[in-house]
Amino acid sequence: VDPDSAWRDEVRRLAKERDAVLLAHNYQLPEIQDIADHTGDSLALSRIAAASDASTIIFCGVHFMAETAKILAPEKTVLIPDARAGCSLADSITADQLREWKAEHPGAVVVSYVNTTADVKAETDICCTSSNAVDVVRSIPADQEVLFLPDQFLGAHVKRETGRDNLHIWAGECHVHAGINGPELAERAAANPDADLFIHPECGCATSALYLAGEGIVPSAQVKILSTGDMVTQARATSAKSVLVATEIGMLHQLRRAAPEIEFSAVNDRASCRYMKMITPAALLRALRENKDEVHVDVETAARARGAVQRMIEIGK
Ligand code: 13P
Ligand code: SF4
Repeated sequence: VDPDSAWRDEVRRLAKERDAVLLAHNYQLPEIQDIADHTGDSLALSRIAAASDASTIIFCGVHFMAETAKILAPEKTVLIPDARAGCSLADSITADQLREWKAEHPGAVVVSYVNTTADVKAETDICCTSSNAVDVVRSIPADQEVLFLPDQFLGAHVKRETGRDNLHIWAGECHVHAGINGPELAERAAANPDADLFIHPECGCATSALYLAGEGIVPSAQVKILSTGDMVTQARATSAKSVLVATEIGMLHQLRRAAPEIEFSAVNDRASCRYMKMITPAALLRALRENKDEVHVDVETAARARGAVQRMIEIGK
């Protein structure tokens, strides 16, 4: 028996026995994506976690994603195969820092990206993900001040799209996406003039891509700023034969599955998130066998965060 198929059989058997649903983010290792019941972006996976009938959720992703599932489904057991799978972006603001920022802008509406800790969500009015950030900010009356956190590049994208000048942006970033830079993108785009550019809004290069489009260096119809889930949808819809992808490289697996006839390549093939890759096949098996690592969110914190997360899953449906 090939060991991979033995692993798959064992994971499926244990998941069934434990009444567990396996969720995997689009940046997970290919074998994890392939065995999951659902693979998707942060928003899709949060919605599935909230709606699932399973008594256990195994979240193959990073810690804030599993915490979000627990906030939405407190009665379920939520496991993450390795609790050390953090996120540099979520680490870029603490609840204390947010409280100080709020004190400087009394009355402002706080919009937090889902890439934040439960403590930060508890200080938040509405959460968003990259697929509905623009819709979330548009849902706030135009004359109201907004504090947007923690990602500066997603914040800049939202500000451009909404044209709001009363949007204040925290200066956080994801180390993986910030490292996908403009010059690298410009070079790759110049060498592949017919390729579509799929760019995650967390990227440092998103502004450069729009500059390339504005200057006519790349036709603007070929430049697409997309969440990871929207990249999959767009891969099925585009007529391009090749696509340059600016995001974490785990994404390529799902894109190639969705559109095998298209050539997908990474703008930066070193853009790998070490936290996402902590969820190994062995860790997933251990999670199922030993019921570990269980994700707990303090009951009071979860209660304070729940409204903001529920508004997030309602907006942009
Ligand atoms: P998506 O919501 O586009 O999947 O992005 C999540 C993310 O930031 C993981 O890095
Ligand atoms: Fe966080 Fe960046 Fe990793 Fe996403 S890719 S989980 S934002 S560190």
